[in-house]
Amino acid sequence: MYTQIKELTEPVNNPLSRMSTITAVLHFKMKNFFWTGFYLLTNDNKLQVAPYQGPLACLDLPKDKGVCWNAINKQKTIIVPDVNKFPGHIACSPLSKSEIVVPLKNKNNKIKGVLDIDSKKLDSFDETDAQYLKKIVQLIYNI
Ligand code: SME
Repeated sequence: MYTQIKELTEPVNNPLSRMSTITAVLHFKMKNFFWTGFYLLTNDNKLQVAPYQGPLACLDLPKDKGVCWNAINKQKTIIVPDVNKFPGHIACSPLSKSEIVVPLKNKNNKIKGVLDIDSKKLDSFDETDAQYLKKIVQLIYNI
């Protein structure tokens, strides 16, 4: 899937087009992905929803709360096997049981937002997901 996403996104140097394509491919190919999307930092340092696939989600995530802000502040990938055990987790849907959040950086290593994926099953994500999702998000700004 990495190769497919690379070939699809490379010709169009537009981060939002690439994010839209990435969410569509991941969401419809990975059967356990219940919500697949991006949250992007705004100029006034808000974290707001961007291209996604799946049910309606929170538009604006309250600062420094939840998994997405945690990934932004630590600038690292966070795997949450059980969202109910993550203090401050923001439940956009009560059906989400586990999640992975991968930071998104531009060419200059500046943090731009996150890729957030939720699953309806507990413990859906592992280090292999983290490794390939990191490679996939690097395609957005790095070519
Ligand atoms: N659970 C996230 C919020 C976004 S939804 O999962 C789509 C969080 O705690 O930051």
